[in-house]
Amino acid sequence: MEEIVDEEGEDIQAGINDNDSTYGGSLIGCDTATLASYITDYRYENGRRYHAYRDGEYWGPNDEHSSDLQDLAHHIYLLTLDGKLHLAPLDSPHNILDIGTGTGIWAIEMADAYPSAHVIGTDLSPIQPLFVPPNCGFEIEDCNLEWSYPKNHFDLIHIRELFGCVSDWDEFFTAAFEHTKPGGYVEVIEHSVCPVSDDDTVNEESFFTLWGKTVVEMGERFGKSFTIWEESKERLEKAGFVDVVEKKYKWPMNGWPSPEYRTHGDDGEKSWQRLREIGVWNQLRLYDGVEGFMLRLLTVAGGWSYDDAQAFLARMREEIKDLKIHAYLGVTIVYGRKPGGKPRDEEKLPQPATSSGFVSPDGSGVGWSPLPVDYQGLP
Ligand SMILES: C[S@@+](CC[C@H](N)C(=O)[O-])C[C@H]1O[C@@H](n2cnc3c(N)ncnc32)[C@H](O)[C@@H]1O
Repeated sequence: MEEIVDEEGEDIQAGINDNDSTYGGSLIGCDTATLASYITDYRYENGRRYHAYRDGEYWGPNDEHSSDLQDLAHHIYLLTLDGKLHLAPLDSPHNILDIGTGTGIWAIEMADAYPSAHVIGTDLSPIQPLFVPPNCGFEIEDCNLEWSYPKNHFDLIHIRELFGCVSDWDEFFTAAFEHTKPGGYVEVIEHSVCPVSDDDTVNEESFFTLWGKTVVEMGERFGKSFTIWEESKERLEKAGFVDVVEKKYKWPMNGWPSPEYRTHGDDGEKSWQRLREIGVWNQLRLYDGVEGFMLRLLTVAGGWSYDDAQAFLARMREEIKDLKIHAYLGVTIVYGRKPGGKPRDEEKLPQPATSSGFVSPDGSGVGWSPLPVDYQGLP
């Protein structure tokens, strides 16, 4: 854990001070001229802003544009889970850890949903908001280094979209196992980076296939794989978790689902309208996001020129507008329990918490937008 503060314990990074719940106690107590230099002296690369702490460890920008897209992804995950913030059956949790919290949106909503729990979000970048619930805090930590938390401590460790961020998943899940309380859970939510289809509109010749192969290869060169979405279940079991549950979903690449076309199986049995809505948001996220997702990977890990990278990104943006291709990304949500803990009555466990910001105005369902029935997204 990096502790960060200036001599007076304040005025760090635009007015953060030591009473700021955002940074909790974790920032207190060390020399902090260093804060500026190694946490917030961000690196600028090809017009995008990247994290400074552990420079080069993560491929994504930490600028405002990137944060907006992370919050949009949060909305898509809520749509996927019908508004639920998690699926693991929590029973009055006290300590929750969100690793690689990003903008902290999940951690903040969990703190609201479980007022008696203390929720910590960790990240390489201090991009979380300043005003957060009193039971929520953020800390700067590299999850690939030794974890500084007590062992047998967390009721839930949450991992979402850490694809391409973890150098050794087995070591990572072993650490997660050690730090989970007996009877507590680890939950992993990840999506594939390889667009596929159920009807052969994506095949070996498709640009979408090249897209997927390119991201996977860049992850390998970067030393952090993008394939965890299909490995989480096996790896959690290997780490010692039991009763591991895997749920599968599909995110269409755009608004192609219709009464005529839809996905087949492993899609959460969502109606074509729900699939289309997820697709519309996913298209927007990717259209605006591919540069942030890929630019550093292509130019640094892949050694591509900036111009070649931009040409590839333009091709990606073009492809995600094609409604004739019925492509989607696989999504998995996997949770497993650490053996031990108090015996409990599975029948009587409370339902997973639902996001408070996810109720449709007419109360007719959770958070679905009243999109026109024929709206298919970006033209
Ligand atoms: C794709 S974002 C996902 C953010 C968040 N989990 C969510 O789902 O909204 C990945 C996040 O992981 C963070 N990250 C990457 N490598 C990390 C590391 N080694 N230790 C801690 N955080 C890391 C990044 O800074 C980024 O905020």
